[in-house]
Amino acid sequence: MSVRLGDTAPDFTADTTQGTIAFHDWLGDSWGVLFSHPKDFTPVCTTELGYVARIKPEFDKRNVKVIGLSVDPVDSHEKWEQDIAETQGTPVNFPMIGDADKKVSDLYEMIHPNASDTMTVRSVFIIGPDKKIKLSLTYPASTGRNFDEILRVIDSLQLTAKFKVATPANWKDGQDVIIGAAVTDDEAKTLFPQGWKTVKPYLRVLPQPK
Ligand code: BEZ
Repeated sequence: MSVRLGDTAPDFTADTTQGTIAFHDWLGDSWGVLFSHPKDFTPVCTTELGYVARIKPEFDKRNVKVIGLSVDPVDSHEKWEQDIAETQGTPVNFPMIGDADKKVSDLYEMIHPNASDTMTVRSVFIIGPDKKIKLSLTYPASTGRNFDEILRVIDSLQLTAKFKVATPANWKDGQDVIIGAAVTDDEAKTLFPQGWKTVKPYLRVLPQPK
């Protein structure tokens, strides 16, 4: 069964570099990012984990907990983390799941056998405080992810959870937004009394609500 947007994120208990974690309990009321990398002691993964560690304050600011995973065991992660701290300038400051039995990888379909039978692909799942899947991404092993994009999506998800708006292409926090397609003009007058610009009846733009 694949994990799709709007599904409840599968719950699990797993060993991590920060002890045993029961995923839903660990998430609590926070947002979450669960991401997999193919293998320990590999170059692209080393840079990814270093980058996520460096920008962790940005996830904290947004009330987002971050957790990594690979099919290597926790003791391997712990040894590798010494290299990450040495080469990337920041110790890994979030838990890493050791998924040697592939329990979590299978739950989230992180192994794509036509890419590799043994390694996880680069999956990202953003999970809301309601434990629902809000985004899923799959990258190949050879391409490191853009974690600034993950933060950008979180900004959009958190804004659109609060206001009946959507965010346009390449939107960044603070830029103009679009009134949701399901919102009538009459409803919009109540929701956005400051007004908006009608470019087309279906394309109504307004400054980002606070
Ligand atoms: C890497 O992180 O560099 C990598 C991992 C697995 C396969 C290919 C590249």
